[in-house]
Amino acid sequence: MKTLDDIALGYKTDKSSMWHNYTKLYALYFDPIRNEKLKILEIGVDKGYSVKAWKEYFPNAEITAIDIIDLKHLEEERVNIITGSQNDVNFLGQVNKDYGPFDIIIDDGSHHNDDMKCSFEYLFPLLKKGGLYIVEDLHACYWGKSHGTGEPVFIDLLKKLIDGVNSGGKSGTANIALDDEDGWYHQKKLAPMDWWEKNLEFIHLYRSIVFIKKYPPSEKDLYIEGHFPNYLTVGKTVPLKYYESYLKRKVKKIYRKIKYFLKKI
Ligand SMILES: C[S@@+](CC[C@H](N)C(=O)[O-])C[C@H]1O[C@@H](n2cnc3c(N)ncnc32)[C@H](O)[C@@H]1O
Repeated sequence: MKTLDDIALGYKTDKSSMWHNYTKLYALYFDPIRNEKLKILEIGVDKGYSVKAWKEYFPNAEITAIDIIDLKHLEEERVNIITGSQNDVNFLGQVNKDYGPFDIIIDDGSHHNDDMKCSFEYLFPLLKKGGLYIVEDLHACYWGKSHGTGEPVFIDLLKKLIDGVNSGGKSGTANIALDDEDGWYHQKKLAPMDWWEKNLEFIHLYRSIVFIKKYPPSEKDLYIEGHFPNYLTVGKTVPLKYYESYLKRKVKKIYRKIKYFLKKI
């Protein structure tokens, strides 16, 4: 079977080992889920090289790609090409509604700091639980006014998100997927965790490319949703026993509250 790099070299995308060599990293995350029925969004089509590579590499995936230029003629079976800008959140919302929610989002678009930040802040919350968001060519973030308003705002955002991964010091077990009411921040009387603190599993930063993962659904989510949605197997499934222990802790908490209340009266 051809590797991702073989395929990328064949289509001449600059993701291959002939150029940026991102394929080496992509393979680490994508090989285990290659045959799954995924929905993938790529920002930036250009000549359609990467879209063709993704189509061949993921035989069961639906690829949606957006570009500010009308490249609709590159559309084919399992490949949707939509025209619009990555900094237009109404457009992104419509794409997500029509073709999402996505398991994987890859930003290989304008490489302007402000656009990267805008797309990430809007699309990451819409990504499927357990999904991956990747941004390429981070070196362009330092290129000043030629690539945005001049400030490396996307890099600043990544630095801030590191606090989210560490739950701003509010987590004791550091596994918010299992227990979003981690006892640590109650004990320390810290402010509740914000959305990013609860939803970021990791930020893997390599040379010029970042992989950001959203927590996979917990047993609690699956139980509430009443079904097991299709999500990436990059992360682990949470065993049911954790959900049981979560419920036990909840019941104990209510019991303690009732006891406290009864003592008072
Ligand atoms: C680096 S190329 C994409 C290369 C392609 N992914 C590949 O690997 O073969 C960048 C593309 O982003 C598009 N682009 C530029 N600004 C954009 C924006 N604001 N929104 C969406 N696409 C944009 C450009 O038209 C160009 O086709």
